[in-house]
Amino acid sequence: MTGYTTNNAGIPVESDEHSLTVGPDGPILLQDHYLIEKMAQFNRERVPERVVHAKGGGAYGVFEVTNDVSQYTKADLFQPGRRTGMLARFSTVAGEQGSPDTWRDPRGFALKFYTEHGNYDMVGNNTPVFFVRDPSKFQDFIRSQKRRPDNGLRDHDMQWDFWTLSPESAHQVTWLMGDRGIPRSWRHMNGYSSHTYMWVNGGGERFWVKYHFKTDQGIDFLPQEEADRLAGEDGDFHRRDLFDAIERGEAPTWTMYVQVMPFDDAPDYRFNPFDLTKVWPHGDYPLIEVGRMTLNRNPEDFFVHIEQAAFEPSNLVPGIGPSPDKMLLGRLFSYPDTHRYRIGPNYVQLPPNRPQAPVRSYAKDGPMRYEPPNTARPYAPNSYGGPEADTARFGEPDGWATAGEMVREAYALRSEDDDWGQPGTMVRQVLDDAARDRLVGNVTGHLLDGVSRPVLDRALQYWRNIDKNVGDRIATAVNGG
Ligand code: NDP
Ligand code: HEM
Repeated sequence: MTGYTTNNAGIPVESDEHSLTVGPDGPILLQDHYLIEKMAQFNRERVPERVVHAKGGGAYGVFEVTNDVSQYTKADLFQPGRRTGMLARFSTVAGEQGSPDTWRDPRGFALKFYTEHGNYDMVGNNTPVFFVRDPSKFQDFIRSQKRRPDNGLRDHDMQWDFWTLSPESAHQVTWLMGDRGIPRSWRHMNGYSSHTYMWVNGGGERFWVKYHFKTDQGIDFLPQEEADRLAGEDGDFHRRDLFDAIERGEAPTWTMYVQVMPFDDAPDYRFNPFDLTKVWPHGDYPLIEVGRMTLNRNPEDFFVHIEQAAFEPSNLVPGIGPSPDKMLLGRLFSYPDTHRYRIGPNYVQLPPNRPQAPVRSYAKDGPMRYEPPNTARPYAPNSYGGPEADTARFGEPDGWATAGEMVREAYALRSEDDDWGQPGTMVRQVLDDAARDRLVGNVTGHLLDGVSRPVLDRALQYWRNIDKNVGDRIATAVNGG
């Protein structure tokens, strides 16, 4: 026994089992404030689930720098010898809280680093690209992957309808339908920033970078049939795997690399280096090692530390900035906005989100605020000793020159800016025969599960555009040939 039960105010309660009634068979009294507290608290136990990436799990860990990249960034957490505490959360995208971990889907790879200059969040996926390249298509894309309004079912017809009408999805769809679309566990997948970010070194020099977190456990996947079986047997297969591995003392690790593009390469590169549907070929920009991430501590309470974790790409620290990737620029708004709605405006004060650097903000009040502001006067400038922005030290924006007419247009096309080239390369040069066979099988199974004409015909053409041979094989299989 850990002591007597109390209510939330610390007052001893009379019983854990019986409500206050008039006689043993009598009605319940309104003055049973403990019963009312229990019911009222229970009614408010949930915060809304994340609108995407609702099902997930995570752990705390540490990031250690193993290579000197200070010529590219002054960011505190990437300086030689630095060790920074961190939190990671992995997730599926389209499924709800209780959905099986082994459904085919990209996996979220969200990291929060508690640096000396505040929280740095790298909110990536286990894939280096994405389905769309303009933030105004994200909501439509997600609705096509979630449930149909009339019957409440997920619907492959809707998914392929959107994908085939949005050819920029081809790279990510090829990736998704291949082996990496169902990782064996979260420990057996890579993480990518996917977006291009800016790094700035101590001398003010700017670079464009992409992050790669490569699993040290080795890449591994689940074949479709095994994933389907596990979805029934253990819907929490991935959540359990990570938790159990850490409990056993087998802390998973990832090695972090960056691809670095000199700032002035961007305007003349053969395709738009900020387009989220494309990778930078390793041959052009090789991987440079940065450090190692180790996840070694399970959260003591899932709700407090994982459900209430709030990752936001807008948490960028000095030495790291955004790029002109339109998707990234859209995301800078979306995440803090959804956190204010999902958790509440003071979400940053909760344990997983609380910076380990001092907070000297002028924000005040709002529901659930429990840390008083450390400023005597809640406005700037003031003459009562409030904090002042250190413009000399932090005032240089991590930006780039820009000018032009206001338009609603796609990125200006460059010589190699097509939608089919990179997925075609993956199919022909990266996959081996067995992986290509599984790709054909996965796509065929998906298309035969509720995709109707004319969407089906468009899907076959979509695959022929990616690779004629693979497209023909899928068409033969789908048409029963
Ligand atoms: P490389 O041969 O240097 O790289 C190919 C990369 O493909 C590998 O390094 C690996 O990435 C990844 N890969 C291996 N198997 C699979 C798979 N089954 N599904 C998805 N990805 C896989 O060539 P390039 O850099 O020129 O890229 C060629 C193509 O590879 C690209 O068009 C893209 O489709 C794909 N790719 C490229 C990546 C990049 O950042 N350049 C990253 C991932 C895929 P990793 O080492 O990260 O595991
Ligand atoms: C979660 C929006 C693109 C990775 C979310 C959430 C929203 C959102 C609203 C829920 C956050 C929460 O409730 O805590 C968007 C928008 C996008 C976009 C508007 C495009 C314009 C992307 C891309 C990636 C990504 C490109 C990866 C590169 C994630 C991850 C999570 C997430 C990993 C889960 C974070 C966690 O574990 O809590 N996104 N997203 N998203 N998104 Fe996105």
